Amino acid sequence: MSNSNASSTLGEGMDTLRARFVEGMSRAATFVAVATTDGPGGRAGVTVSSLTSVSADGDQPSILVCIHHLSPAASAILANRAFCANLLGEDQQAVANLFAGRGGGERADRFSQIPWATGPLGQPVLTGATAIFECRLATALLWETHHILVGRVLSVRLSDRPEALLYGQRAYRRAVHLPESES
Ligand SMILES: Cc1cc2nc3c(=O)[nH]c(=O)nc-3n(C[C@H](O)[C@H](O)[C@H](O)COP(=O)(O)O)c2cc1C
Repeated sequence: MSNSNASSTLGEGMDTLRARFVEGMSRAATFVAVATTDGPGGRAGVTVSSLTSVSADGDQPSILVCIHHLSPAASAILANRAFCANLLGEDQQAVANLFAGRGGGERADRFSQIPWATGPLGQPVLTGATAIFECRLATALLWETHHILVGRVLSVRLSDRPEALLYGQRAYRRAVHLPESES
């Protein structure tokens, strides 16, 4: 059976394929995190939606983030061999915008505009984040334009406000409960 609304990507030009890919991924609403790092490679932070849990049951739990190869945060994480994934709370849109470079300002000034502290591994921990995963960099792979950075999680801090900021269809969102399905 064919679905006339779902057109195939086969045979499409690369521009169309890319545009459809970007639109498709924009519908994948995700949580928003700021990946921070500090150490000899410098202090840096960048807003990411690519935070993913990899395994809870390895030697330690592990996560990954994908960061553009031109982002100073990627080079700093690679040099520092450590990072912190700060999962933002639903009232932290301004923090997400700050670390996405929206609103201008120097990259170096980002940390002077928000409250933060140093975590047990020496990584920047953003005040108000709903969950904070401090990691040692375990491995990294440069895939096309992005570094895939896998971290072993050595410390987790949880705030008493579990609601995470979401991003989907190019806008910040919050999760809502749906009524139970009747079927
Ligand atoms: C909600 C949201 C999610 C983002 N996710 C990512 C991501 O996963 N990886 C990435 O490299 N950039 C991501 N970006 C883009 C970077 O935050 C943005 O390009 C930033 O300006 C890079 O700053 P930098 O060049 O100072 O590192 C995201 C931006 C927003 C607003």
